Amino acid sequence: MAAPGVTVFVCVSCRDGDDAHLRPGAALLEALRARLGERKIDIAVEPVECLAVCKRPATVAFAGAGKWTYVIGDLDGGLHLDDVIDSAQSFAATDNGVVAWKDRPDCFKKGVVSRTPPLP
Ligand code: FES
Repeated sequence: MAAPGVTVFVCVSCRDGDDAHLRPGAALLEALRARLGERKIDIAVEPVECLAVCKRPATVAFAGAGKWTYVIGDLDGGLHLDDVIDSAQSFAATDNGVVAWKDRPDCFKKGVVSRTPPLP
């Protein structure tokens, strides 16, 4: 069972520009799972069909009970895997989901699309 504190949702439906066969989110999901295995990190990762950020693949969301939810786009599975994992761990370590700006890698700072408060 994955460690509590964060679930990383990965959109696996986004297409990459003109090539209808390229699915950058699906590639990111596969690479993410492999890297988590290599690093022996147990984080819940779930594929989703769309996060409504279709023009900015690859896209993920960090969510957790009682926490702000962050949607992040413009991720590159070849460049940002460890940043996504490190960010997810930082998110998991918070009480409210808000990761300090100084602790966010550039892809988290630049890629944030939205944040949504937890239910009261
Ligand atoms: S298809 Fe990926 S965010 Fe919409």
